[in-house]
Amino acid sequence: DTPFLVDRYGRRARDLRVSLTDKCNLRCTYCMPAEGLDWLPGSELLTDDELVRLIGVAVCDLGIEEIRFTGGEPLLRRGLEALIARVAELEPRPEMSLTTNGIGLHRRAEALAAAGLDRVNVSLDTLDRETFRTLTRRDRLADVLAGLRGAAAAGLQPVKINAVLMRGVNDHEAVDLLRFSLDHGYALRFIEQMPLDAGHTWSRQRMVTADEIFDQLSQHFALTPHPGQRAGAPAELFEVDGGPATVGIIASVTRPFCGDCDRTRLTADGQIRNCLFSGTESDLRGRMRAGADDDELARIWRGATWAKRPGHDIDDPGFLQPVRPMSAIGG
Ligand code: GTP
Ligand code: 5AD
Ligand code: SF4
Repeated sequence: DTPFLVDRYGRRARDLRVSLTDKCNLRCTYCMPAEGLDWLPGSELLTDDELVRLIGVAVCDLGIEEIRFTGGEPLLRRGLEALIARVAELEPRPEMSLTTNGIGLHRRAEALAAAGLDRVNVSLDTLDRETFRTLTRRDRLADVLAGLRGAAAAGLQPVKINAVLMRGVNDHEAVDLLRFSLDHGYALRFIEQMPLDAGHTWSRQRMVTADEIFDQLSQHFALTPHPGQRAGAPAELFEVDGGPATVGIIASVTRPFCGDCDRTRLTADGQIRNCLFSGTESDLRGRMRAGADDDELARIWRGATWAKRPGHDIDDPGFLQPVRPMSAIGG
């Protein structure tokens, strides 16, 4: 018996990803339809008190060491700074990071850092204003670039960039994105697109693979495997031109890292997901609102973790995309 979140395959969750809202101010084509989605009703969203309680159970009782806030777009959650400040009070204090599209980050980076946020990952798929507008259906590239600068200036380091390449849209931009990141000191990672879009338009054939990205970059940079990667980290890291700068490739589809997975997830409406792709969820919110004590909540979380499947099965003929899209799971 262990107090930790372990599964039958010997993995232990140390990293909790908390979705704070399913809403977003962009409409990335690989994520959401132009009209948006049916947002979760406010009454189903966890309140700040509920979030702090559940994160407290995870950190103090279940051995979670890192909290990542995601969305949707987590900066749209009112009072984010105050929430972070409360989580920073937990013992032991968890490491805290934010995965954001960067809009508004410019104005908020200082306060977020002051509240206790350690670092940010910003999604940026293109440096071309027109392509950005097509891809996200909003003309906000300048805001994202300002957000990146603001985060770096506020010391939310390292500032990481997540880029998803799509064939015929931005797949010619890998080299430009890396040059830009090197110039500004951002840590760039490319992510293989996964079947998580609300429109179910993903296809394995059209996906830009990690190998293709590596080949594109290799024509302009010398890439060598970076020694000493943290186990469980999704990105394969390469030193660029001898280092110290690195570039990461997250090959979620072609080289799954499920065997080292150290994550558990809490959706904005208080459901535990043991995997990005899990077919079932465990209702923490319901139990909590019915009066469950912390021990019971911890027990539910352990049970949900134990049932985690070994991998995501994207390549199986019977693979079914999760019912929730990425924006409602938390990236
Ligand atoms: P750090 O490396 O600690 O900064 O975090 P991270 O890479 O886990 O965080 P981020 O939120 O930036 O996630 C980057 C991407 O990794 C996500 O957009 C997903 O595409 C992918 N990813 C994150 N978690 C999982 C997971 O549990 N399974 C799979 N297959 N992919 C994941
Ligand atoms: N496949 C891979 N990454 C995705 N993201 C959103 N949807 C997908 C998908 N279908 C990325 C975003 C963001 C991160 C949270 O997840 O670009 O960087
Ligand atoms: Fe918003 Fe992120 Fe989805 Fe883009 S990928 S629409 S930024 S939630």
